[in-house]
Amino acid sequence: KKNGATRDFLDLSEVPTTELKTILAEAVRLKSVRNGALRGQGPLAGKVLAMIFEQPSTRTRISFDVGMRELGGEPLMLTGHEMQLGRGESIPDTARVLSRFVDAIMIRILSHEDLLELAEYATVPVINGLTKVSHPCQLMADIMTYEEHKGSIAGKRVAWVGDSNNVLHSWMQAAERFDFELRVATPPELAPDMEQVEKIRSAGANIMLSNSAEEAVEDADCIVTDCWVSMGDDEEEATRHNLLKPYQVNTRLMGKAKSDAIFMHCLPAHRGEEVTSEVMDGPQSVVFDEAENRLHAQKGVLAWCLGAIPNS
Ligand code: CP
Ligand code: NVA
Repeated sequence: KKNGATRDFLDLSEVPTTELKTILAEAVRLKSVRNGALRGQGPLAGKVLAMIFEQPSTRTRISFDVGMRELGGEPLMLTGHEMQLGRGESIPDTARVLSRFVDAIMIRILSHEDLLELAEYATVPVINGLTKVSHPCQLMADIMTYEEHKGSIAGKRVAWVGDSNNVLHSWMQAAERFDFELRVATPPELAPDMEQVEKIRSAGANIMLSNSAEEAVEDADCIVTDCWVSMGDDEEEATRHNLLKPYQVNTRLMGKAKSDAIFMHCLPAHRGEEVTSEVMDGPQSVVFDEAENRLHAQKGVLAWCLGAIPNS
């Protein structure tokens, strides 16, 4: 530097040995005090959440980022291809290394096996931010939203209409956990994996499968749908559109549920495909409360994962 005001650290040969030794001594001191150090305020003060996105996201990404900050912690946004993960570093090694730096990891990755492997090798909590198999954070927000609008979901009837995907799988698991009836209508070609269904049924879930949207929504307290083409399914777009056309949630279908039924959708929505704008923007739709509740539900998830909920 011409003015000498800023110290560059460009090469060891550019820094006097005494300065290098000073740096190393400070590093040793900082390491020894790190565990007790607290930054900021709030229950997650001083904590860092690494967020790895192998797939795009609006809600998950922003709600985790803002949620972590609101709890006093800090988010660290990463994408797979910016990391050595994208050049073949293994998931176990990535997990081991991240665990030395951060307090928790949230990941969105299509392969559920990869998520499980990351969780196995990480020594910090790992959060599923959506895989091809499930989307549990979405369901925490969805249950919260249902109960906010209509009281306890136990014993109620929820109808899922459309594709069978990750979000449906989490709805099936939720039906078991929260004790409501789930009626699922999909085209026969896109029916849920029976092994998964039977597993959840044998845990006690009341899940009805059908190919008729009208049958599934009868007397329903809530109608749910999701996109016809999930991430990773892009090649099947044309086929899926054809198969799913009869499963659109529109005013006519809403009219076959209970008159006070609510409409839910995890978003992003494809207006005119799985749902009409009339339903999305209509009085029964709670989709934007549902999106907002991602933030609140995940703050709960983060606090729980990091032991910041008293007596949990
Ligand atoms: N619902 C949901 O997970 O949205 P994003 O893909 O925008 O995160
Ligand atoms: N089922 C959708 C959910 C998006 C939040 C997908 O996997 O793309």
